[in-house]
Amino acid sequence: MSKKIIRSPLFYVGDKFKLIKQLNNIFPSKIDKFIEPFCGGGSVFLNTNANEYIVNDIDKYVIKLHNFLLSYMDKEDLFFSIIKENIEKYHLSATYLGKNVPYELKYKFKKTYFAKYNKFAYTNMRRDFNHNKEDIMLLYMLIIYGFNRMIRFNSSGDFNLPVGNVDFNKNVENAIIDYFDNVKNKNILLYNLDFEDFLNNIDIKKNDFIYLDPPYLITFSEYNKNWNEYDELRLINTLDKLNKKNIKFAVSNILWHKNKYNCIFNEWAQKYNIINISSNYISYHDNTNKNSIEVLVKNY
Ligand SMILES: C[S@@+](CC[C@H](N)C(=O)[O-])C[C@H]1O[C@@H](n2cnc3c(N)ncnc32)[C@H](O)[C@@H]1O
Repeated sequence: MSKKIIRSPLFYVGDKFKLIKQLNNIFPSKIDKFIEPFCGGGSVFLNTNANEYIVNDIDKYVIKLHNFLLSYMDKEDLFFSIIKENIEKYHLSATYLGKNVPYELKYKFKKTYFAKYNKFAYTNMRRDFNHNKEDIMLLYMLIIYGFNRMIRFNSSGDFNLPVGNVDFNKNVENAIIDYFDNVKNKNILLYNLDFEDFLNNIDIKKNDFIYLDPPYLITFSEYNKNWNEYDELRLINTLDKLNKKNIKFAVSNILWHKNKYNCIFNEWAQKYNIINISSNYISYHDNTNKNSIEVLVKNY
């Protein structure tokens, strides 16, 4: 029987959920520590077998959200009861509870009824979260009910995603239950550092494996905005150093996208093993995938 692939309940933009099978087939069969410097929503560490997991992301809210979810792994009922309280407090729709949008609204706004129904509630919930930014449950719900389920803050540090045309449905409920079940059996350590500091800070041995899914230089998404050529160079230099120490790594990237070409990465990759991946690359502005070449580059 094939292993069930689970989706991270963060529904992270650009996650590797659909590529897990391909990645798992390429990863080493025995991994002591699975090390992930750019973990994002966590779909990869959730679906990889190892003795320990050491994962990192530079986004402090991504790490806060994982820590928050991990803290509830043995308290599923409590988690869902707080969700329910908030749904009732703010008067949100919630398909998973049978709290559906009224039929008249569905009929009038055929494609946008969730957004129309939840807009006022969402704005109130966002205002309450932004008050002191400490209620991570509210942040989680803002993501679930938000546009494209993104994690987006403005330059003043306020969460500023608009309401989305989605609600808390069975898929979200299942993803949370699967996450709790999955992490219960795992030994996970989380860091919130730049990838280079992270890799310099941890102990890496011969039987460990590093999987890297950095922001892509030539595509657009919220977390790619601060990634530049200097970072790309830091990345490939770091990987060369790991290679010299005989540490196994595999790194994902997009070589070519919509007439843009990542020369730095492509030239560097020639000295390693380049594996083409059937791309599912979907960006926020563009959901076609015809013009992308996605690869996994490994040194083993
Ligand atoms: C392509 S996403 C990873 C997606 C992940 N594989 C998944 O399945 O959800 C890249 C991640 O790198 C993080 N990131 C960006 N710059 C970073 C840096 N300098 N150091 C560490 N993480 C960084 C972003 O916050 C983002 O979560």
